[in-house]
Amino acid sequence: MTDKAIVSIRELSKYFGRVAALNEVSFDIKAGEIFALLGPSGCGKSTLLRILSGFETPSSGELLLDGKDLIPLKPNKRPINMVFQSYAVFPHMSVEENVAYGLKVEGIAKAEIKTRVAQSLKQVHLDEFGARKPHQLSGGQRQRVALARVLVKKPRLLLLDEPLSALDAKLRDAMRLELVKLQEAVGITFVIVTHDQSEAMAIADRIAVLNEGRLRQVATPSQLYQRPVDAFVADFVGTIHSFAVVSSTQQGKDFVVGTQELGNITVPAAAVAHGIYQLDELVGNSVVAVRPEHINVTATQPANSEVTLLGKLGDIAFQGQHSVVEIMLDNRPSLTAIASNADAQALHESGHGSTVWAHWDTANMLLLPNDASDAGAVE
Ligand SMILES: Nc1ncnc2c1ncn2[C@@H]1O[C@H](COP(=O)(O)OP(=O)(O)OP(=O)(O)O)[C@@H](O)[C@H]1O
Ligand SMILES: [Mg+2]
Repeated sequence: MTDKAIVSIRELSKYFGRVAALNEVSFDIKAGEIFALLGPSGCGKSTLLRILSGFETPSSGELLLDGKDLIPLKPNKRPINMVFQSYAVFPHMSVEENVAYGLKVEGIAKAEIKTRVAQSLKQVHLDEFGARKPHQLSGGQRQRVALARVLVKKPRLLLLDEPLSALDAKLRDAMRLELVKLQEAVGITFVIVTHDQSEAMAIADRIAVLNEGRLRQVATPSQLYQRPVDAFVADFVGTIHSFAVVSSTQQGKDFVVGTQELGNITVPAAAVAHGIYQLDELVGNSVVAVRPEHINVTATQPANSEVTLLGKLGDIAFQGQHSVVEIMLDNRPSLTAIASNADAQALHESGHGSTVWAHWDTANMLLLPNDASDAGAVE
């Protein structure tokens, strides 16, 4: 991956009647990266992909590929290929014929087709399967045929719309890794659409989070998780427990924010998302929040944790490497904490409904606006 932009999207909007499927979206996709478009259903992911592929025209804005205007180009004139959700392959053609099809249509010489088909099948580890028909393959192998069919055309950009959603959970995990390896091997820029945050986090070099047609944040998976710009992003990329800010004052560089449940919390300047705040804007528009892996839960009162909440032990879910412990609170939704299996077992012995303390350090909290695009924080 380089820092060079292969695709530049500038203030791109798409209206269907009055609905803004995309609302002034701007970002770059870098050459050689796996870029994911992530967001809830209806946020505009497929619309953006269709605009990239040329099957949809934007209402306004710019779209550049390698610095050149892409919008006037018809789909078949763009060096871009798309892999659809359904992974369509021709059932009556052999694997080899399926992969060769696109090149034949382009009128490429037979000898070259043969070499390129062989190379593509090798890339997806199907070199032994060229003579088979699709029905003689497993689901995962058929996916790879569909990938070989587009890779053989050597596109500048490969678009994948929910590429793994048709697979069962186990195969999906295996194909995630395969996709990453394949992309590394071929070096083609991938743009993947998904509404599954764990898939985006596992596969992508960078992720754009969209909601209701608006861009919320573009960042690496770890930046999104650790430094989300707002409560929407923080919640979309993982579990987070939020407490509404009801008052705020400043102490030197730190903020002291009041919450109903936790009382006053001193938030270090470093925890303030993007340093965007005006003190008077915090109340009613922001939360302080903590992720489950930072919450400790004990049957005895902690000696000196900074934030402490008294609750009752709820359900304990064993998850293999660790357990998720529920802490039931009066007057608000439960918290969840990640605990070692040994700690979870000890808590389990004290019984469902027994008194427990949830506690954590303020250094692990984030102060987040509910919507950073309202606060003008999205670049
Ligand atoms: N051809 C169309 N005509 C009218 N409205 C459309 C059209 N295509 C999409 N939309 C609307 O635009 C918005 C974005 O749709 P889009 O298909 O891009 O969502 P998505 O993020 O891909 O969702 P999903 O995860 O469900 O696939 C939705 O409100 C949708 O109803
Ligand atoms: Mg879609």
